[in-house]
Amino acid sequence: MDHIPVARPAIGQDEISAVTAVLESGMLASGDRVAEFEKKFADFCGTTHAVAINNGTAALHAALLAADIGQGDEVIVPAFTFVATATAVAMCGAKPVFADVDEQTFNILPSQVEELVTPKTKAVIGVHLFGQPFDVQAVQECCESHGLKFIEDAAQAHGALYKGQKVGGFGHFGCFSFYATKNMITGEGGMVTTSEKAYNERLRLIINHGQSEKYLHTRLGYNYRMTDIGAALGIVQLKKLEKFNQRRRKNAEFYNANLSVKGLVTPTTVQGVSHVYHQYVVRLTGEFPMNRTEFMEYLKTKGIGSAVHYPIPLHRQPLFGLKNDPDPCPVSTRLAGTVLSLPVHPMLDQKQLNYICDTINRVK
Ligand SMILES: Cc1ncc(COP(=O)(O)O)c(C=O)c1O
Repeated sequence: MDHIPVARPAIGQDEISAVTAVLESGMLASGDRVAEFEKKFADFCGTTHAVAINNGTAALHAALLAADIGQGDEVIVPAFTFVATATAVAMCGAKPVFADVDEQTFNILPSQVEELVTPKTKAVIGVHLFGQPFDVQAVQECCESHGLKFIEDAAQAHGALYKGQKVGGFGHFGCFSFYATKNMITGEGGMVTTSEKAYNERLRLIINHGQSEKYLHTRLGYNYRMTDIGAALGIVQLKKLEKFNQRRRKNAEFYNANLSVKGLVTPTTVQGVSHVYHQYVVRLTGEFPMNRTEFMEYLKTKGIGSAVHYPIPLHRQPLFGLKNDPDPCPVSTRLAGTVLSLPVHPMLDQKQLNYICDTINRVK
């Protein structure tokens, strides 16, 4: 069996043709393809606007700036997520405040968010981690009751549903990434969704040098624009996204039904959501016959890729220099030591899925 990577982009002739057409057109920067991609992505998410951007971190940064987050402000984020959720806050000069997560779903605990609100809190970023929507209603209610901005980090959850509606359309802003391993890709890339006209206008200034007319700069801005090359890829990938997500769900369901080793806990899906399995994340308990490093090494010798998302919770990152005694986010710390992501991408075939399950079920 050839090596099975933990992530693999699904690129076909359609994507190659779309990118080639842009290259041949001579218009490589932000142009018609970007405008088309923005329109299609907004329609897909059910928002009025979508602003294409050059990566998911820039999407979060631009959304926070458009929400007027700055020096002296606090923004509540989960402790168990990719670092960009919190660094985007720091990039605004504000302070990320870490909330613990639920052990079963890996997602932010609304009760923790409520406890962490102070007079300095200006926003909450909830992350739909690994493709499963967090408890949107509870976080949204908390934001409304305290007058906070609500931002969805949907970098891992394109097309996921919460109570039948696409994520990215609930918050003041939805932030997406199209990095090469995501459910849909543009190589590097991102999108901010919003249904407020003023935010849309502000975002467009922020991502383009604060330029309101050619060479007239009315606020501090950045060069965060997407290229037409990326947008051409994104348009094709968006068309295929539902099919990709269905395959991811089918692969996950196969694992759920067929993985059976003591001490390996398969992921929990909550009621009322549609999970898009950006990652298929299992937890290893003390009953599992190997430690995580040994297990990853065993999988590697059998040609199966795996990865740890994420080995260090954000409140323990040296970058944030926090004192963590006693640990304010013990669940995040425990998860960081016990989670493991298995291949779930849409390029897997049945033979590979059978092989992965058989190989894991043989662990003693
Ligand atoms: C939850 C989360 N937020 C933000 C990002 C940042 O996206 P990007 O890598 O496109 O900057 C990522 C992507 O890796 C992510 O997984």
